[in-house]
Amino acid sequence: MDAPARAWVLSEWALLPLRLFLGFTFLFAGLQKLANPTFFNSKNPSGIHAQLLGSIRTSPLHALLTHLVNFSTPIGLTIAWAEVAIGVGVLFGLWTRIAAVGGVLLSLSLFLAVSYHSSPYYTGADIVFVFAWLPFILSGSSSRFSIDAWVTNFVAKKNGTDRSEYVAIPFAQLQRICGNFNDNTCAAREYLACDAAVCPVLLGSRAPVATPVAIRSLDRRTLIVGGAAAASVATAAVIFGSTVAATGKLIGNAQVSKPATKQLSSGGSTTPTTSGGAKYSGTLLGPATGVRVNEPATFTVPTSGDPGIIFNEGASKFLGYDTVCPHMGCTVAYSPSAKLLVCPCHNSEFLVSTGAVISGPAPRGLLKLDVVEEPDGNLYLK
Ligand code: FES
Repeated sequence: MDAPARAWVLSEWALLPLRLFLGFTFLFAGLQKLANPTFFNSKNPSGIHAQLLGSIRTSPLHALLTHLVNFSTPIGLTIAWAEVAIGVGVLFGLWTRIAAVGGVLLSLSLFLAVSYHSSPYYTGADIVFVFAWLPFILSGSSSRFSIDAWVTNFVAKKNGTDRSEYVAIPFAQLQRICGNFNDNTCAAREYLACDAAVCPVLLGSRAPVATPVAIRSLDRRTLIVGGAAAASVATAAVIFGSTVAATGKLIGNAQVSKPATKQLSSGGSTTPTTSGGAKYSGTLLGPATGVRVNEPATFTVPTSGDPGIIFNEGASKFLGYDTVCPHMGCTVAYSPSAKLLVCPCHNSEFLVSTGAVISGPAPRGLLKLDVVEEPDGNLYLK
């Protein structure tokens, strides 16, 4: 069917690009997680477990997340499949209002868990997604490219009722047609009063609001046909998502793991540490010779259990950082080719010299650690 006049001003057409964007984005995000087996690996620095651990320290929901972190794999699977379901629902206009409610809940959860401290607040995508979903809760998928609309039409035909078609007409033009209604005078209906029965818009705010077709025809047949359509699409989505997950696992297992950055064996000794008759404050991390120039070493920060990294700047100068990404808690790693610290999750990049963020969604730089080489030749975390 051709688009009605001025169709682009109607919400059912005007919201179509946003609906397609949200549907594609959520479907892609879900499939991307399913295809990435490391996302569900609790030992992987870019996995859901690491991200939950990182969120605990910044989220207002930290008490809840502290308990949920023990269930990181089922939570990751739930998020991934929820994103697939929401994405498919919105993309195909299937049970769109329910999918949009799911989208708001998921986006709100991510906002509270992850991007709550984004500053300014509009730099965090999750809060924008929350509000982007609202029009679809209010108006549904509209009648364009939508299984909901197809079901409604199908049922309407079976019931022998016609489907309403909406067109956009300028209100002033409608008033002229109805009776040149202006300033409470009616010029076009010569010798006749303006008549609301002829033109309900003359009732102003008392005019009846058209009930959407989808609501009017929400009968048993609609539920049965809609349910059958939803079951068919859900089955196809589960098969497709499972295939993507299985393929991702196969490819992931076939990949050769890269050699890890050298791990410094932190002694974990507490202050003061006695070495060669002298006492040094701080936590003993290991011999300074274990960290060469251009070859950073990793270690575990004893006080927090966070992963850390040490760089040798030469001349007995060392730099240390807590490598938990301030964005979503993935572990940042050194990229020798870029000479930067790079987050594997969303590609935030940090300067080695200061830890400052130079690109990506991380709201701030890495936490700097005070690492000092003492005269005994060992590194200490102060
Ligand atoms: S966790 Fe998102 S950029 Fe690091």
